[in-house]
Amino acid sequence: MLDTPRVRISPGSQSRNLLSSLPPLSVYVHVPWCIRKCPYCDFNSHKAPAELPEQAYLAALQADLEQNLPLIWGRQVISVFIGGGTPSLLSAAAIEQMLTMLRSHLNLLPDAEITLEANPGTVEAQRFKAYAASGINRVSLGVQSFDDQALLALGRVHNAVQAKAAIDVAQSCFPRVNLDIMYALPGQTLQQAEHDIRTALSFGTEHLSLYHLTLEPNTVFAKYPPVLPDDDLSAMMQDQLIELSQAAGLAQYEISAYAKPGAHSRHNLNYWEFGDYVGIGPGAHGKLSFHDRILRTATVRSPQSWMEQAVLRDGSHYAHHARVQEADLPFEFMLNVLRLRDGVPAAYFQERTGQSLAQVLPTIRELIDKKLLAPDPVRIKTTDMGWRFLNDVQSAFLNDTE
Ligand SMILES: C[S@@+](CC[C@H](N)C(=O)[O-])C[C@H]1O[C@@H](n2cnc3c(N)ncnc32)[C@H](O)[C@@H]1O
Ligand code: SF4
Repeated sequence: MLDTPRVRISPGSQSRNLLSSLPPLSVYVHVPWCIRKCPYCDFNSHKAPAELPEQAYLAALQADLEQNLPLIWGRQVISVFIGGGTPSLLSAAAIEQMLTMLRSHLNLLPDAEITLEANPGTVEAQRFKAYAASGINRVSLGVQSFDDQALLALGRVHNAVQAKAAIDVAQSCFPRVNLDIMYALPGQTLQQAEHDIRTALSFGTEHLSLYHLTLEPNTVFAKYPPVLPDDDLSAMMQDQLIELSQAAGLAQYEISAYAKPGAHSRHNLNYWEFGDYVGIGPGAHGKLSFHDRILRTATVRSPQSWMEQAVLRDGSHYAHHARVQEADLPFEFMLNVLRLRDGVPAAYFQERTGQSLAQVLPTIRELIDKKLLAPDPVRIKTTDMGWRFLNDVQSAFLNDTE
């Protein structure tokens, strides 16, 4: 079924390490269109044409998935994340068709977490009910703020009233809802940031993703930077939102993720625990483990090129399809797992990189001596101080190359 991809597949070094078992597997589906492009956003998102080419997109998605199947035969899928872009632009019929296609091709666990990302400007009760009937069981809503001025400055297509109405609709249709909120917004005061977080929490949400607004290269904001809160003020905002979330029962479990007990995103947790994922759709990334190697994939970013090339089924829709070099694995593993406030079991290192923990023990010991990693023999996790200097802790493993 999979022809040899036309892109060069790097042979990597001969493996000396073996994975005795494979990690959990997730699927990421990228939907590349939005009503319009937000000035701060560097995601692979494009202004939608007057009519979405849903059938061409779904045909390409199926062809993309089928080219991944020989790499994941027999494996169970624990979660699906339909992200974007704005997947909630797709019709109910298109989501139904997509989920039917995924179910017929994959061994999707009956209780798999299936998340759809939605923009509050595209929420409509009838369509959301139909998404739920198709099997979507979690929605991630890009609220960003409840302040009309801030939403305007962010170039959002919705206002605060629409954001609140969208949360009501989402919560009435789906058992699990995440709200994305950004802080350190143009001209934002501490009181305004407090109002946003208090309003988000007033909906009793089980999960929040709280992002510090960053100026990304090649965005409108990078070219015409707005006046943003300084570092001291944004640090105060962060302390405040951690405190308020905690008081409402949502603990920070990752740099930007806060959840009530048991309500964490299983899909994102699998990324951070160095699990596997198939990535389909334009510009989607994948990571797949085999007993003797770990492969990373990425598809071409242009929606049109991806749609045209995926259906050729010759691998030409891949921009990248290469084995991860053994030497890069310790750092890649630590970069992910240390994002988690509670880290991961130490055994994951060998299980998920195929390398002996002994290889990174000198660095781990050094970081424990500096009180940056916890002196826990069965977990790899930062101390409170290590959490504050996370970049330094992660970078220490850059030296652990072979
Ligand atoms: C793919 S978008 C979510 C869904 C939908 N596209 C939307 O914006 O409503 C993922 C989230 O990333 C966050 N985000 C995007 N660009 C960001 C930036 N430059 N800085 C911080 N957070 C950002 C936003 O909170 C956004 O909701
Ligand atoms: S709606 Fe979301 S993905 Fe689309 S441009 Fe705005 S932030 Fe980016």
